[in-house]
Amino acid sequence: MTTFRIAASILSCDLTRLGEEVRSVVAAGADWIHFDVMDNHYVPNLSFGPMVCAALRKHAVRPDGSAVPIDVHLMVRPVDALAQAFAKAGADRISFHVDATTHVDRTLQLLHAQGVKAGLVFSPAVPLSALEWVIDKVDLVLIMSVNPGFGGQRFIESALRKLAQARKIIDASGRDVRLEVDGGVKVENIRQIANAGADTFVSGSAIFGSQDYRRTIEAMRVQLAV
Ligand code: DX5
Ligand code: ZN
Repeated sequence: MTTFRIAASILSCDLTRLGEEVRSVVAAGADWIHFDVMDNHYVPNLSFGPMVCAALRKHAVRPDGSAVPIDVHLMVRPVDALAQAFAKAGADRISFHVDATTHVDRTLQLLHAQGVKAGLVFSPAVPLSALEWVIDKVDLVLIMSVNPGFGGQRFIESALRKLAQARKIIDASGRDVRLEVDGGVKVENIRQIANAGADTFVSGSAIFGSQDYRRTIEAMRVQLAV
């Protein structure tokens, strides 16, 4: 039985109240906090750095005191130095784009050496071909269903086929690897995306743009339970 995870992307929250928003979305039932890092170089936008991640670490906590994983999505080039800085800033998972680093295998090793889980990200036009060569070193595969850089974009349908391909590679490996999807995920399409093989769903505008975060997350879980 698949355990689905919902990762709330704080890119779309009220950024003037970051800590409070993280606490509210955790209280509303988010499984992970998704933290988008943009450098105005790899992507045409700028967001948050390691200091903000470190500052949020104490807010990403459930009422029983257990830590909520911070899922860092690096949209930066180069990758390695910042990846290490985020490991030190309390990130649990750090994902980077396969086309953003020169030596993918080395970056994966470097993340593991820092004691964090390592994720590999594929933008809409990037093929999965590298994945089979490093699947033994990957803890998470992130399929972008929008072009990276902005929240609130439309889901790109070809991501469904790519998810299905990634699911095959993961299952053939026999390893415990999360298959995450990022971009345009909402209550209306989450079931179809799960059918394609995703088990972890990033959602920004659908959650933070709604009146009631809890209701939205619950509505997503109802779809996933069908
Ligand atoms: C886009 C980011 C996403 C973004 C998703 O580059 O990686 O995580 O926040 O936002 P929505 O859910 O609004 O598409
Ligand atoms: Zn993201």
